[in-house]
Amino acid sequence: MKLFLDTADVAQIREVWSWGIIDGVTTNPTHVSKTGRKPVEVYKEICDIVDGPISMETIGLKADEILVEGRQLAKIHKNAVVKVVNTLEGLKAVKQFTKEGIKTNVTVTFSPLQALLAAKVGAGYISPFVGRLDAVGHVGMDLVRQIKTIYGNYGYKTEIIVAAVRHPMHVLEAGLAGAEVCTMGYDVIKQLYNHPLTDLGIEMFLNDWKKVPKA
Ligand code: E4P
Repeated sequence: MKLFLDTADVAQIREVWSWGIIDGVTTNPTHVSKTGRKPVEVYKEICDIVDGPISMETIGLKADEILVEGRQLAKIHKNAVVKVVNTLEGLKAVKQFTKEGIKTNVTVTFSPLQALLAAKVGAGYISPFVGRLDAVGHVGMDLVRQIKTIYGNYGYKTEIIVAAVRHPMHVLEAGLAGAEVCTMGYDVIKQLYNHPLTDLGIEMFLNDWKKVPKA
């Protein structure tokens, strides 16, 4: 299972990359706006830190605009993945990117049929937003399981990135559902390391070690 960090904060990316557990990064317009920096500068810096797929989102809503932006983003680095919104225009652009060999991540996905359409135009990744579905009373992870079934039924190669992750249970369920990737923020990825019984176990071992005769 691949773990991506969902942020444009290069300090966080540098730190988490040093932990040795992340395989890539997903950014979005909100993340980039929080940095207060020029997007291309941020993207280049992320690509210098992380050796893995880096999703960079297009802003235009028309296929022609998405194509212009996406081709520029793809030139930034060999690991650039062009993130495109899951709309009719977006998927037209994805079809063309696929022909040009540009890898895509189809984002803001909320239904299995949207995911089917993205696979049909050759999306490299599909990003279902599970936390946003949970927030409106739907079980976000059901969407992931449905996409997994549909892709499995027909052998689509599009990889599922479980996105809008809010807590470690989302990561666990993503793994159990067989999603290829889960992307999450700094707080959630750090929480994955924690277990109170591990802390207690270490404390007990260290206390017992104090009683061991030393040379
Ligand atoms: C994924 O690629 C998105 O960047 C992200 O998960 C969006 O989710 P959120 O803004 O609801 O956290």
